[in-house]
Order: sequence, then C-alpha cells, then structure tokens
Amino acid sequence: MSPLEPTDLDPDPLAALSDWYTAARAAGVHEPEAICLATADASGRPSARMVLMRGLGPEGIDFYTNYESRKATELAANPNAAICIYWDSLGRQVRLEGPVRRLSREQSAEYFAGRPRGSQLAAWASEQSAPLESREQLVARVEEIERTHPDDIPLPPFWGGFRLEPVAAEFWSAGEFRMHDRIAYTREDAGWSRIRLSP
Ligand SMILES: Cc1cc2nc3c(=O)[nH]c(=O)nc-3n(C[C@H](O)[C@H](O)[C@H](O)COP(=O)(O)O)c2cc1C
Repeated sequence: MSPLEPTDLDPDPLAALSDWYTAARAAGVHEPEAICLATADASGRPSARMVLMRGLGPEGIDFYTNYESRKATELAANPNAAICIYWDSLGRQVRLEGPVRRLSREQSAEYFAGRPRGSQLAAWASEQSAPLESREQLVARVEEIERTHPDDIPLPPFWGGFRLEPVAAEFWSAGEFRMHDRIAYTREDAGWSRIRLSP
C-alpha cells in the first residue's frame, strides 16, 4: 500500500469518502455501504450498530431506520453521532462525527417507495428495538399488513431517514509495520482543514 498524503484526498471529506467508496465497490468489497453508527443517550452512554449508507452527497451521509428504535430515541435526546467504516481488503477505515437530523418526509417517502415490497412490509411490522414475544408474532403482523395493503404500501409515520452532517472526519490507511497513515479533517468557517495524525 503506498503512503497516503493529505493532498491525495479531496479537500472535502464527503467527496473523499465518495472516492474511497467508489474504489471499494470497484474492488468488489461485499456490502461496502455497511457502516457502524454510534449514538449516545442523554447521559452520554454510547451504543453502536451497523446500518446501511443509503445516500452520500455534499451535505452528508443518509441512513434509514425506525424513528422509535433505540438509535432514534438516542438521537432525539442527543443528536451527535459517529460513523465508522472499514474496508478490510483495501486496508482503509473512515471515521465521521457530527450532528444528525431527520430527512424530510418527501425524501423518506421517495426512498421507501423504491424499496422491495417485503422490506416495506417489514418496516411496518417491526416495532424495532421493542421486546417481541415470538418470531411468529412478527410474521403474523407482516401477513396482516399484507392483507390490509394489497396495493401500494405507504411510508410508515414512524419510519424514515436521517442525515449525519460531518464536522470532523478521519481517513486511515494501513501501512506496513503499523506505520499507518491517518489524515484528519476539521470543519472550519471557511471550509475544511486537514492534518496528519500519528498512527
Ligand atoms: C450489515 C447490516 C446492515 C443493517 N442496516 C440497517 C439499516 O439500514 N437500518 C436499520 O434500522 N437497521 C439496520 N441493521 C440492523 C441494526 O444493526 C440494528 O440491529 C437495528 O437497527 C436496531 O438498532 P437499535 O436498537 O440500536 O436502534 C443492519 C444490520 C446489519 C448487520
């Protein structure tokens, strides 16, 4: 792996992430959009889980979930979150931190409309993060929603997207003998600054 210089990366970390994501896709990484999302409750107690990056643009990283789930409840109490992505075969890690806000109902509806019918039914049926008596109960709920919605399935009121708008980012590239490269970005008034960090 050749050494990584700050100038090898786009000056905007979201554009740099897009470049690395494109490289991960091109290299055949399985589910390169799988990202670890860390949130924390109002007392600062953290929790982390994988979600799928479903949007990556100049404003941030989008993911979709249940607005009553543990992650969403934590984000309502504390909107600051962190994302960690690791692409093993490329020896690359990306970290991002920043506030998270809900996407508009229109954006969520557009995304939801494009989901497979089975995923739409599952979104309606699952009270994500709430205790569930049995798998059968979930299957019965899916069947019930299927019966009551023979045609188009609307966006559930309790489901939608979030966008993390980074204020800090770090790009890590594996080096021999743990001589890794780390390039850290910080949001400034006039754009982004980049520095190298010790591995
Ligand atoms: C690879 C992978 C991708 C996942 N993608 C999502 C996702 O996009 N949205 C989601 O709500 N849960 C997703 N999950 C499930 C979450 O990891 C988690 O179990 C769920 O969202 C409940 O988390 P919470 O109780 O912290 O809210 C995914 C799990 C894995 C392993």
